[in-house]
Amino acid sequence: MDSLKEKIDLNRLPRHIAIIMDGNGRWAQEQGQDRLYGHYHGVDSVRNIVEGCAELGIGYLTLYAFSTENWDRPEYEVTGLMELLVDTIRKEVETLNKNDIRLHVIGDMNMLPDYARTELNEALEITAGNRGMNLIMALSYSSRWELAEAAKQIARDVRDGRLDPEAITQDTLQQYLCTRPFPDPELMIRTSGEHRISNFLLYQLAYAELYFTNTRWPDFRKENLYEAILDYQSRERRFGKTSAQIQQDTPSHHPTF
Ligand code: IPE
Ligand code: IPE
Ligand code: MG
Repeated sequence: MDSLKEKIDLNRLPRHIAIIMDGNGRWAQEQGQDRLYGHYHGVDSVRNIVEGCAELGIGYLTLYAFSTENWDRPEYEVTGLMELLVDTIRKEVETLNKNDIRLHVIGDMNMLPDYARTELNEALEITAGNRGMNLIMALSYSSRWELAEAAKQIARDVRDGRLDPEAITQDTLQQYLCTRPFPDPELMIRTSGEHRISNFLLYQLAYAELYFTNTRWPDFRKENLYEAILDYQSRERRFGKTSAQIQQDTPSHHPTF
């Protein structure tokens, strides 16, 4: 069987793919295992998908690894996830460097235990010079947290005379989000059958194509990624215009969000 990869139009790749990696717990429980067993296997999928995106030449990959709401899970699961995170980063930094991948983190780093924050900061520093793919981990992240933080900083800047309220535009707001260095995702994938956003990139996903699959995250591999990209490439992105207008336009005239 031919790989789906060959069917992908490399000239029409999304620049930025965002993934809600969901279903680790169910995957484990379906096998009579503990939820943490699912998270451990989820790491194999992360490795596989990071590699798959890098091979294709995707510029930005954002992975939703832990939401602010996930802090309310049972303590043993939260601790297990933090340990897994630190362990994985320690093991993978070398591979990231070898593949010229730069790590970024978005989220409320103050919530993380000290040892996790230290490990992360080190990895950010070590990979800071890499110029290939940008791997953005959403950790202790939620959109509403991010928007509240943005509002706070905007208010401070207005108070201190650094920002004129009348001059605030959509672009200004974008500059106050943790995602300011990155283009908005064109494709958002959620695994494991849930059809919701769960507080992920609410602002940035305004015009993203959404792709949902029943595949649980620990089963998600490159072929599943290719399927999602092919589905994305089959869609017409209209940005509010009519289909006829889009078909007259050359691709380079499409607005980029
Ligand atoms: C996603 O899998 C990973 C995290 C949220 C950390 P889940 O742990 O949400 O798995 P399900 O949805 O309960 O199956
Ligand atoms: C979203 O998954 C967060 C991550 C994948 C990190 P959840 O499993 O926490 O989302 P809900 O609770 O089903 O909405
Ligand atoms: Mg879940």
